[in-house]
Amino acid sequence: MIKNQWYVIATSAEIGLHPVGLTRFGEKIVLYRTSSRFLVCLSDRCCHRGAALSLGKVCNGDQIQCPFHGLEYDPSGKCTLIPANGHSSLVPSNFKVKSWPVYEAHGFVWVWYGDTEPSPEIPEFFDDIPDNAKYATVKDHWKTHYSRVIENQLDCVHLPFVHFNTIGRGNRTLVNGPAVEWVSERKFFMYVYNEVDSGQKPKKPNEVPVPSPSGYKIEFLFPNLWENRIADKVRVLAAFVPIDAENTMLYLRFYQAFATLPVIGKFIARAAMPFNLYVAHQDRRVVETQVPKASGLSIGENLFQGDHPIIEYRKKRESLKQ
Ligand code: FES
Ligand SMILES: [Fe+2]
Repeated sequence: MIKNQWYVIATSAEIGLHPVGLTRFGEKIVLYRTSSRFLVCLSDRCCHRGAALSLGKVCNGDQIQCPFHGLEYDPSGKCTLIPANGHSSLVPSNFKVKSWPVYEAHGFVWVWYGDTEPSPEIPEFFDDIPDNAKYATVKDHWKTHYSRVIENQLDCVHLPFVHFNTIGRGNRTLVNGPAVEWVSERKFFMYVYNEVDSGQKPKKPNEVPVPSPSGYKIEFLFPNLWENRIADKVRVLAAFVPIDAENTMLYLRFYQAFATLPVIGKFIARAAMPFNLYVAHQDRRVVETQVPKASGLSIGENLFQGDHPIIEYRKKRESLKQ
């Protein structure tokens, strides 16, 4: 894990009226909404005898009550009541759980993972999604480290093999570039120029056009967001959510701005999901076999030019981890 980052960990739609328990970064967390719809994220382990707060309920507007012996916690994680001791007794200060800083926007939920205070800047998002676009989201469990799932989405070499009958049709096995363009401290664009091999040598990353004349590009935003600009009005977005060292929840979202009436627009976005999932499962089948589970700079792999975006990702990941 890269510490001290805002990570997307869920969608807004997943957190409704009742507390939701999730495993993220190898830790159990609970998310709930206060009566004013404000999101709270706490450690999902009661400090009394370890029961899951996520089985409890929201009380007093903004607190959560443990299902076991009724201890109540406020959004800062401080226990405010031990019912067995009575309302008139003070709660000792060691009765508390960790509270995770949380941020919500664009239908996603971020938490701050690290050992420092959260960055005062709000988490960066993609700025080119049409305002009127409608979207649908699905989630998909992958049995591997999230860095491998990310690298798969930066890998254009696999297209004609893994996706021979879908997005990689056409046998374009020769990989020109790919070009990587860093546009900010944590965001890069990637331009893909695969073509059929008719004996030519692949062009180097600095010999292919930046940006792409077609407008096609892939964006990656550290630590865990990716966007594929398929056309002016179509995007596929992915969030690579770390469950633990060997499991990732991939959130796939399809945006379209062709049909923008609320119900029809959502319906069309949803209609695209089976195909997107089919493609993702072509990847998942192979990526889950990669060893080691977590990627890194020196893990004994032999890389070549087409892996350039993956190398860029690994280097930045390493420097952010320092
Ligand atoms: S375990 Fe939570 S109140 Fe006892
Ligand atoms: Fe793929």
